[in-house]
Amino acid sequence: MAPPNSETLAQDIEKIDLKQLAREKGRYLVYPETKYPEIEEFVHKDPGHRADPKLASLYDNAEKIFDLTPQIGTEIHGLQLNKLTDKQKDDLALLVAERGVVFFRKQDINVHEAIKLGEYYGPLHIHNTFGHPPELPPIHVVYFDTQTPKQYFNYRRAGDAWHSDVSYEKQPPGLTILKIDLLPGEAGGDTMWASGYSAYDRLSPAMQKFVEGLEAVHTGQMQVDEAISAGHAVRRETWEATHPVVRVHPVTGWKSLYVQPGFTKHIVGMSRRESEAILGFLNNHIIAGHNFQVRFKWEEDSVAVWDNRVTCHNAMFDYLDVGRRHGYRVTPQAEKPYYDANGKSKHEADIAKAQAKQKQKQ
Ligand code: SIN
Repeated sequence: MAPPNSETLAQDIEKIDLKQLAREKGRYLVYPETKYPEIEEFVHKDPGHRADPKLASLYDNAEKIFDLTPQIGTEIHGLQLNKLTDKQKDDLALLVAERGVVFFRKQDINVHEAIKLGEYYGPLHIHNTFGHPPELPPIHVVYFDTQTPKQYFNYRRAGDAWHSDVSYEKQPPGLTILKIDLLPGEAGGDTMWASGYSAYDRLSPAMQKFVEGLEAVHTGQMQVDEAISAGHAVRRETWEATHPVVRVHPVTGWKSLYVQPGFTKHIVGMSRRESEAILGFLNNHIIAGHNFQVRFKWEEDSVAVWDNRVTCHNAMFDYLDVGRRHGYRVTPQAEKPYYDANGKSKHEADIAKAQAKQKQKQ
């Protein structure tokens, strides 16, 4: 047999069908020893700045667009993510920035198209330690089944897993795309998202004032420790960053709480006890914030597009006795998180919108 050349390798990669691979092989990931350079700083230009505030390219072309809760989550029917025009991609960026997460069902998009779509929004994050599909390092695979060691999930409180993806990076992700294409059965494996905007809005003015201007350290140490104990390589040297506790979204200009149980380690300048008390309060505020959360029941080939800057999420590991769940995430990075005292609250924007609607009716 002839040795593979770069052309045949490229063709093989182009043909990779991750759903098929998961069906045939189960957990198909590779864990290369490759060392990566540090992630380079870049200037993030958010496509949401180019969006039409009316989002006409989406509303005029979708069959149906509806909110799942008042605070977070919108579902779109009748658009295929692999066929969006650039105008629709820009409008999607704004919709996702405003609504936190947007869901699509029955999507044809494949992994190569998902990579292209992700690249439209920012440079794709490549994980420091996780396995990935052969030759596709920017793809974060979700695969768990009945063989998954139960100790990871059974002995921890589900609420402790709320996180914003890789928030320990200097420029963590913005708009993020996840396709789930295999489900364990009729039920199980839902995902929940919480709005960081509404989490901020539901703090008292005194608490808002206290947390604004604070900074917190985010760490990926837990993932590094897991990789080392599994004998996998740690491919980059940095997995810690300091970010504001309240950040402002560059497109909406709204303030969002940016801590979560998953990766936020401590608040800068506080004693361990003080930091634990404040983070404990803020984490519980998110975990118990049912009035600013949405829970999505996936169908196979659904896609969620969310903004990691202003949401956190939590996948429900309630199916490990039942079957396998598979999908993949594309994770474009965005700007370095910043605080702006002139930022507005989503709550104020919602009231202004409702008043404008009321006026139109009169
Ligand atoms: C993730 O944490 O990005 C994956 C969420 C999921 O599996 O639903």
